[in-house]
Amino acid sequence: MTLPDYLTGYLAPVPDEIEAHDLPVTGALPPELFGRYFRNGPNPRPGEDPGHWFGGHGMLHGVRLRDGRAEWYRNRWVRTRMFTESAPFVGETGVDHSAVSANTHVIRHSGRILALVENGFPYEVTPELETVGPCDFGGRLTTAMTAHPKQDPVTGELHFFGYGFLPPFLTYHRLSAAGELVESREIEVPGSTMMHDFAVTEHHLVWLDLPVVFDLARGGMPYDWEDGYGARIGVTPRAGGPTRWFDIDPCYVFHVGNAWEDAHGRIVLNAARYTRGAFTSAWGQISGSTDPARQAAASGDAVLHRWTLDPASGAVKEEPLDDRGVEFPTFNEDLLGRESRYLYTVGDDAVVKYDQRDGAALTRKTGGDTGEAVFVPAAGGAGEDEGWLLSVVTSGDSSELLVLDARDLSDVASVRLPRRVPAGFHGSWLADD
Ligand SMILES: [Fe+2]
Repeated sequence: MTLPDYLTGYLAPVPDEIEAHDLPVTGALPPELFGRYFRNGPNPRPGEDPGHWFGGHGMLHGVRLRDGRAEWYRNRWVRTRMFTESAPFVGETGVDHSAVSANTHVIRHSGRILALVENGFPYEVTPELETVGPCDFGGRLTTAMTAHPKQDPVTGELHFFGYGFLPPFLTYHRLSAAGELVESREIEVPGSTMMHDFAVTEHHLVWLDLPVVFDLARGGMPYDWEDGYGARIGVTPRAGGPTRWFDIDPCYVFHVGNAWEDAHGRIVLNAARYTRGAFTSAWGQISGSTDPARQAAASGDAVLHRWTLDPASGAVKEEPLDDRGVEFPTFNEDLLGRESRYLYTVGDDAVVKYDQRDGAALTRKTGGDTGEAVFVPAAGGAGEDEGWLLSVVTSGDSSELLVLDARDLSDVASVRLPRRVPAGFHGSWLADD
């Protein structure tokens, strides 16, 4: 039997939960890295085939760093109702937002660590990666929660949204800095699309309403490209008011970099953009599709792209920023929603750093499959790129947590992990207070 791509190679799941202590370190871990690096990703149980890379149970991998040592590694499945009870997402009483995989991201807000997936509620976990349970913010959250919420660095509020296949298709939510759900507001869109990410600027929310459309008739993964849907970016005032929509050339975006308002009041949005062909082939591969038409459609990867939206004139400027295939853009989130200069991405066994002021790109080959590079700022008041990048790099059967100097991508340290960590999605650095 031939296994689908998403169960083999770098994506192959691991069969169990382990932990290990006092991990070998090469180089010198900065003492400022005092905390935990957690990363999420799909990991079906042995023998399970979820039918799509995105469908596997969430597994968290954690590395504890303290005083220049790597104290432990631990991996744990998130004990969701899908994992423990095989509860159906859609049952006789409707959608069960706690019967989900929680496999995409892990963040911390107001002291709570949350594992996220975009079709359901977050799951709270402990600093030791044990599952606490689903979180609906005291019953106030009645939609799903995106895996890509945005924390405003000035107010400490967490902005997020939920999308679904039943109306309201899109709802904006805001958590106070203290973790209370203080606002939920419907955003009107023409249909149900797969909205993986969004952007927040100082005064606006930015929506990507793109042609990957829900249709139950597809069976299995119900979202796929539809030419007729069109593509638009929406801009909604954070303070309230109508959404202004800008038509753009059809494309798909999983991940935005940063977005901000420029001196002329225009919205600048950077993201990893897929053409129709790039999306169709990538989607086929992670769906385990053997459709030759999808394989023939292969036409490159996502590339870094910029949209500049002018609310005064309604004009949109679209421009590719590079032609390299990259994904998982990250940046110094102390500048979230404000103009930032540096963007970090990964692609082709490398970390690629962009300087958006002059367009220069710096590439650091890693020699292995390279996970999202999470930026950890150095102490407060430092320059935008003063800090470190953390990335799980896998070569063959071994994985390391690579620590790079974000200024020049030079080696700082490497923590040898006790097992191969499957390629996954997103992670966070959770500093000790
Ligand atoms: Fe994502």
